[in-house]
Amino acid sequence: MEVVPLATAAEVARLAADIIEELVRRRAAADGAAVLGLATGSTPLATYAELIARRQAGAGPDYRGVRTFNLDEYVGLPPDHEQTYLATIRRELTDPLGIPPEQVHGPDPALAGLPGAGERYEAELRAAGGIALQVLGIGTDGHIGFNEPGSSLASLTRIKTLTARTRSDNARFFGSADAVPRHVLTQGIATILRAGHLLLLATGEAKAGAVAAAVEGPVTASCPASAIQLHPHVSVILDAAAASALTRLDYYQEVWAAKPDWQGL
Ligand code: GLP
Repeated sequence: MEVVPLATAAEVARLAADIIEELVRRRAAADGAAVLGLATGSTPLATYAELIARRQAGAGPDYRGVRTFNLDEYVGLPPDHEQTYLATIRRELTDPLGIPPEQVHGPDPALAGLPGAGERYEAELRAAGGIALQVLGIGTDGHIGFNEPGSSLASLTRIKTLTARTRSDNARFFGSADAVPRHVLTQGIATILRAGHLLLLATGEAKAGAVAAAVEGPVTASCPASAIQLHPHVSVILDAAAASALTRLDYYQEVWAAKPDWQGL
């Protein structure tokens, strides 16, 4: 795991955008198409805005072949609701980048097929050859995707019930915590760990405790994000506030400052 402590959220967005662009270019050069795993929530929005700005300025890569898979989705919203994660990712990223909608995927929350929706999403991910780069945020309770504390470290895509804390954290998107759906579909922890590279982004003081538990605490279902310690290729990109509770912060800063040019992330 590489922990990159930067100063500001804007620097986090720029570095994360560099990593995503590098993958898209590398896959295109190999005659392939990048398969990206995408997170919603507020944290990655600055990264997504950076990618769009670069593309619109003519500096970004061509995204038309890229396929994307969302981490999770609410259950119970009308399909045309603007806060579904599929609508959110299309609005905030894939439409502005020119990725065709049929290449943008998420777990299907339609009630008729709900019991098999997790298995179907796993099959879609397998058919795509797996996710090359998975963008992750982190909840204040240490969740990744919507894997709340107590989620099995071996879990696959399935239905979960949100904690009161997560519904309250997400109330800003719905007007009130009561309006936040109670049930969700989410990639499991084992699903997330199959991605080739995990890119966990965190900004702001509210995330400092969860980040410290994920990076320096024990691997435990009580902090689902701590499962990233089991993955061989993880980049944790933080602003100063999100990094503020790390006990080895000096070391991470030293590693980053002394990083050889030839060694990518
Ligand atoms: C949300 C999403 C997660 C996200 C997390 C943190 O509920 N399901 O994918 O990483 O909670 O969100 P934010 O970045 O808004 O703090």
